[in-house]
Amino acid sequence: MLIKKIVVLGGTGFVGSSLCNRLSKEGYQIKILTRNREYNRENLILLPNVDLIETDVGNLNNLNQHLIGCDMVINLIGILNERGNVGDGFKKVHVELIKKLIKACEKNGIRRFMYLSALNADSKNAKSFYLKTKGKAEELLHSNKIGMKVTSFRPSVIFGKSDSFFNRFANLLKMTPIFFPLACYKTKFAPIYVLDLVEMVIKAINDSSSYDRKFNLCGPKIYTLKDLVAYTAKTMDKKCIIIPLNNFFSLMQAKIFDFIPGKPFSTDNYLSAQTDSICKSNDLKLYNINPTPIEDIVPKYINNYNYDSFYSDL
Ligand SMILES: NC(=O)c1ccc[n+]([C@@H]2O[C@H](COP(=O)([O-])OP(=O)(O)OC[C@H]3O[C@@H](n4cnc5c(N)ncnc54)[C@H](OP(=O)(O)O)[C@@H]3O)[C@@H](O)[C@H]2O)c1
Repeated sequence: MLIKKIVVLGGTGFVGSSLCNRLSKEGYQIKILTRNREYNRENLILLPNVDLIETDVGNLNNLNQHLIGCDMVINLIGILNERGNVGDGFKKVHVELIKKLIKACEKNGIRRFMYLSALNADSKNAKSFYLKTKGKAEELLHSNKIGMKVTSFRPSVIFGKSDSFFNRFANLLKMTPIFFPLACYKTKFAPIYVLDLVEMVIKAINDSSSYDRKFNLCGPKIYTLKDLVAYTAKTMDKKCIIIPLNNFFSLMQAKIFDFIPGKPFSTDNYLSAQTDSICKSNDLKLYNINPTPIEDIVPKYINNYNYDSFYSDL
């Protein structure tokens, strides 16, 4: 299967921008489908071989039309929170979209698909809507009846210049006088660098051994959430005292934050954080990718005083 033309959904996001830059450098012809073409997209609009197309990706007719002539679809669309609290938003974005994409792939004879899922995604046993619906999307894709070769990538939390993990904690720390109450502080993560993930995707595109595989992807070290927040504060030279919240107060904080616009933390996030986001076996090694430690990268973007304008994960 020779892949030349790729449709990327979610290509404007944190991971998507890095991936599309790399795909463009590798000479692939890219179509990025987005809800808003003009919003802060100069870095993508100017890339060679990249078409940024504004469309409603929830509409099957649009998908049918935009997938014409393409060899492969990469879906990176995902949300960490929904407007309501009953899972409908997650179902719409993670599951209904996948059903439509499979139909559009069938109509257009597309036989290769890559999906950015998440560690612990599991339609039956996951505790949060986020992980349940990501798991359902994997299930639908990997049981497709159209002979489409699917690869799913299941990363722990991803870091890089525009991440929403270290940057979010850095912003919260800036606003915190000294005491920093932290929910789910014992949860473990193995942060993976965005360019290591991108490398994995690039290497897997034309590798038939990645067909029908789900890759668990992690960084080189495991940290608790408390370690990671303490590391962020130290890197910023910010003095703070982390107040670890027990399970009861973590849930209370989540329930209160559910009502804050943008949901900086939610009951669904709390439920996701009940399971450690770490790998039993890190599949990056299948492609001889040496995972990059946070200590090599995070100080380059998190610390305003030490801002390295040359650092980019594009
Ligand atoms: N970042 C992490 O730490 C992490 C960890 C594990 C898994 N993942 C998964 O990796 C994927 C990419 O993550 P990311 O951090 O790059 O996300 P991101 O920066 O939020 O980008 C996601 C993209 O999806 C599109 N999108 C968001 N909501 C949408 C909606 N309701 N309808 C249609 N499109 C929508 C947006 O594109 P437009 O605005 O252009 O339409 C956006 O650029 C996600 O599926 C996420 O669940 C991320």
